[in-house]
Amino acid sequence: MTFSQLKTFLEVARQGSVRGAAASLLITEPSVSAALAALRDELQVALVERDGRGIRLTAAGTELARYAAQILGLTEQAVRRTREAAGQAAPLNLVAVTTAGEYVLPPILKVFREAHRDVQLRMEVGNRATVVDRITAREADLGFGGRPPEGRGIRGVPFLDNELIVVAPHDHAYGEEESVDPALLAAETWLVREPGSGTRETTQEFWAQNGFQVGSAMTLGSNGAVKQAAAAGLGVALISAHAVAAELASGALCRLRVAGTPLRRKWYVLYLEADPLSGSCIQFLDLLSSQEARTAVGAWLGGAGARPAPV
Ligand code: PGA
Repeated sequence: MTFSQLKTFLEVARQGSVRGAAASLLITEPSVSAALAALRDELQVALVERDGRGIRLTAAGTELARYAAQILGLTEQAVRRTREAAGQAAPLNLVAVTTAGEYVLPPILKVFREAHRDVQLRMEVGNRATVVDRITAREADLGFGGRPPEGRGIRGVPFLDNELIVVAPHDHAYGEEESVDPALLAAETWLVREPGSGTRETTQEFWAQNGFQVGSAMTLGSNGAVKQAAAAGLGVALISAHAVAAELASGALCRLRVAGTPLRRKWYVLYLEADPLSGSCIQFLDLLSSQEARTAVGAWLGGAGARPAPV
């Protein structure tokens, strides 16, 4: 069993197809199939099975994928720590939920980069489940999300306020109201993010807390799609104020002053509790807890009206 075979296998597990894994790893499909065959022959068990046009993992394959992620993550960590022990700056692998990756981290990354040009930065953006997986497998040093996971050995440290508000098309009937009863919104079409999104979970909790059965909800796969659909008049959405600063400033969307909102949450930085932190991680954590980081995010979002709205 080689690292390369495990890496290929893990990518098949994540992409759900040989073709997807080949495209993601920039190798040929026969190379992917050969790696799968070599692992199957060595372990003498079926690791994948057909599933429509793609493939899915067998129970044995799921187990191997779990170990593969750990083995590869630990190996990467060993390389990073060894280089650091020799005086080189450790690269910093980050993983963020969509909203944080798109609307919170960019100005912080800029400040960090200006101060630490020798640190190689990489950031993956995914949903909450991806963030937790990457941290657990040690593929990412630090993660960012609005809802820290319970257990799993992950520590969550709040670093910034995150207010969730209800937004609607700019000409919504309740746009001028000082206080909107949440019950009035049960009849609206709610625009919600995809399963796995923290914003979606918070929206569902908001519905449950207000005791309303939503008659009509539409799932859209990104903040951009939710915002554009709301601006086009399709419905209303609960969303982080960070994600709609530009649209509120430009007037494309309006905020509904729904009683009980904004929901006051935090953005958290997440990392494995038991692992020692690299020097680069400590530098990043120091920046996150500084006024400089808050000022950078505030200035960036404050100027959002002047920026073209993200699509
Ligand atoms: P999301 O995460 O961007 O995936 O919805 C937001 C959150 O964790 O609160």
